[in-house]
Parts: sequence; C-alpha cells; structure tokens
Amino acid sequence: MDAPSEAKPVTVRRIHALREKVAGWRQVGESIAIVPTMGALHEGHLELVRRAQADCARVIATIFVNPIQFNQADDLSRYPRDEAGDAAKLAELGVDLLFAPPPQEFYPEGFQTLVSVAGLSACLCGATRPGHMEGVATVVAKLFLQSQADRAYFGEKDYQQLMVVRRMAHDLDIPVKIEAVPTVREADGVALASRNRRLTPAQRAQAPALYRALSTLAARLAAGTTPAQAALAQGRAELAQAGFDPIDYLELRAAGDLRPLDRADRPARLFAAAWLGEIRLIDNLAVGNAL
Ligand code: PAJ
Repeated sequence: MDAPSEAKPVTVRRIHALREKVAGWRQVGESIAIVPTMGALHEGHLELVRRAQADCARVIATIFVNPIQFNQADDLSRYPRDEAGDAAKLAELGVDLLFAPPPQEFYPEGFQTLVSVAGLSACLCGATRPGHMEGVATVVAKLFLQSQADRAYFGEKDYQQLMVVRRMAHDLDIPVKIEAVPTVREADGVALASRNRRLTPAQRAQAPALYRALSTLAARLAAGTTPAQAALAQGRAELAQAGFDPIDYLELRAAGDLRPLDRADRPARLFAAAWLGEIRLIDNLAVGNAL
C-alpha cells in the first residue's frame, strides 16, 4: 500500500524544520521556488505562486508580517492576518510548504544585523518610510539563506522593493534568480493589496483615481518629449482633487536604477504613494511599452 500522501501545504514554523524539508528535496535534485509574503493573500500573491509552480518542482510560500519593515506601530498591529484562509488558498493551488514563523524565530533576543541597499533605498518608499527598505532587505536575505531557493518571485506592484531585493541578492552573491511578476489589478485598475481590505466603501470608490492618474500621465509622457514637471504637478492636483491626502510622492524615474528623470527618454516608470484616510496606497506604471 502507498504511504498516505501528506496534506498540503505542510506548515512549518521553525527554521530548522524548513531546512530539513529543503534538504530532502535537494537530495533528489528538485528545483525550489520561494514566494515571500506577509499573508492576507489575494490574487496578486496567488499569481506569484502560479508562476513559481510553472517554473519549479517545489514551492515554498512564506507568511511573516515582518515587524522591522513597519515604521508605524499601528500599521503593524492593524495589518490584516488570516493564516487559516491563506492556508486554504495555498492548499487549493497545491503549494508544498508554508513557512510561517513567529517573530521570535526570526528576531531572537540580541538580533542586531540589518541589510541596507543604500542607493536604491534612498528614494520613494525608502525616503517616506524610514527603515522600511532595510527591514525588507534583511528579512528577504534571511529567507533566501534559510530556503536556499533557486528562484524567488516578487511583484512589480512593489517595484522599488523588487529592485532592492535584486541588488541585495546580487551584491551578497546569493545564488537565487529573482523573477518579476506584473501587477494584478481589479477591473477598475486598483492594484490588489492586502491593505485594501481596510478601505471603507467610500475610499474604495476613490481608489481607482490613482491608477487613472498614472495611466493619463504615462500616456502624456510616453513620447519622451513632454517635460515631466508640469505633467506631474497636474497629476498631483488630480490626486488631491480625488481625495488623496497627503500625497507622499508622484515621480518619474528610470526603470533600471530609479534615477529621477526630467522626461521619459529612456525606459521609465511612474511611481506614486498617497493616502486615503489611514490607508496608504502605492502603485507604479511603465511609461511607453519599453518595460
Ligand atoms: P506582501 O505585501 O504580502 O507582498 C508579497 C509579494 O506579493 C510581493 O512580492 C508583492 O510585490 C507581491 N504583490 C502584492 N500585491 C501584488 C499585486 N497586486 N500584483 C502582483 N504582485 C503583488 O511585499 C511584501 O509582502 C513584503 O515586503 C515581503 C517581500 C514579504 C518582505 O517582508
């Protein structure tokens, strides 16, 4: 008789248990993907998982609401959590392993090491959320080293994070291939995000204005002839009109290294972060079809 197959996903909470699982897969030569998340999973996360499953024999999904990347205590305490619901979604996709460690497993007493990707972290969310990018780089470096995954999947929705993670893995010689997945959106353009669960119905109705403003701007800047400053000022006015307050940033930057641009005369992206009440939304869009 066959041994009973293990229920999926198997949930592990300790680093040593993750390492044991990975060692078993490695021994038989299986390729391994990791999809790091903070849970409250939505279609954006699930798209990352599907991409990972298409590429690799084994997929590890991780759920860890990483305290050191939150720069506001109430944002951390109110971050949506639903591990049972998340596990059910991962089970439906047939994910092999869920790694969901408690905070003390990641940051035991005496923890002191931070990974800082200095240049790429200085702008956008790195500038408006002090310590955020270091928190991300640190937790993702730990996940890469713990899992020894061959590939890791990140969403373009958090484009700066994707760039920071790529740079970090490259600079630290961690042999993992970083795969980028395009932003998954609602029908009205709103980028899926776990924090969207906290929007009131009125705020949810205002939210599409962010994607609309980015799309309009991207179309205006696409030829590379329009100077960005005036167009961006108009975009900010549109966002304010739609009820976003404050607007943390609305900027045009180079897609390759996030340098600020005056015009979209090379592969460029528009980046925005703005608040609806207590919820901060971020989004970004390629200008033209270069990227
Ligand atoms: P979280 O916000 O849960 O996102 C996990 C991954 O899902 C990230 O790579 C993010 O870019 C991707 N993602 C989120 N919304 C998406 C969407 N609408 N379309 C496509 N991808 C989307 O980002 C984090 O967690 C954390 O910073 C983490 C990397 C896990 C480190 O703690």
